[in-house]
Amino acid sequence: MDNAIEIRTLSVVFSSNGRPITALDSLNLCVPSGQVFGFIGPNGAGKTTTMHVLLGFIAATAGEARIFNTDVNKSIARQRIGYLPEHPDTYKFLTGRELLVMAGRLFLIRGKQLSDRIDEVLSLVNMQNVSNRKIATYSRGMMQRICLAQALINDPDLVILDEPTGGLDPIGRMEVRRIITDLRARGKTVFFSSHELSEVELVCDHLAILSKGRLIVQGPTSKVVPQGESLEKYFMKAVSNQ
Ligand SMILES: Nc1ncnc2c1ncn2[C@@H]1O[C@H](COP(=O)(O)OP(=O)(O)OP(=O)(O)O)[C@@H](O)[C@H]1O
Ligand SMILES: [Mg+2]
Repeated sequence: MDNAIEIRTLSVVFSSNGRPITALDSLNLCVPSGQVFGFIGPNGAGKTTTMHVLLGFIAATAGEARIFNTDVNKSIARQRIGYLPEHPDTYKFLTGRELLVMAGRLFLIRGKQLSDRIDEVLSLVNMQNVSNRKIATYSRGMMQRICLAQALINDPDLVILDEPTGGLDPIGRMEVRRIITDLRARGKTVFFSSHELSEVELVCDHLAILSKGRLIVQGPTSKVVPQGESLEKYFMKAVSNQ
């Protein structure tokens, strides 16, 4: 099986007031293609930092990361990615539809192909009825949904979602789970972080637990979580041993 993401001995050290902060400490991670991979860990564990390295937002202090076998330092590595940030925010003076037109054009999608694709992603996130309203009038959950639609506009092979259900109501959470499983059914890879462990347990084929920048465990969900135990219980034990 090919890997969508390969991370080898990746370290990221930030500096704050002259003091080093180790966000990632020799992280090794493999995300197989076509799988839903849950990336979990306590606040400050380094999940967002890992994603930022994959997206080329920050440079690693040491180690390497590859997407579909291309080094993330090469911008071409990002062509097949869709990304939903942890705190989605965007141009509030645009309508939802205008945002998607802009996003689609960035990927050189035009004309009927673009309008069809926009209708498709709007329906996926259930935002058809409000797509002509300005984003400034959207609720937090609506903002989350339109940014998820934006992340999917280019029909990416790898979708990176940083806490995709944050701010969503129970129906919205269920819809995101459905979108994730639909993506898998279409052969896509989904790499997402979440603090909702029951949700991770429900949708993930693989998972990794990170704590203080270090990997505690990774593997198929059914192998990582002992039979008869919940992920939440396992997670609490695994993290408290650190
Ligand atoms: N720009 C920065 N400068 C200094 N330290 C940073 C910076 N970005 C992140 N950090 C630190 O790196 C560590 C990892 O942060 P990160 O945001 O990756 O965690 P996380 O696992 O995504 O947490 P959360 O679940 O709260 O979103 C934390 O100690 C954080 O304070
Ligand atoms: Mg984070």
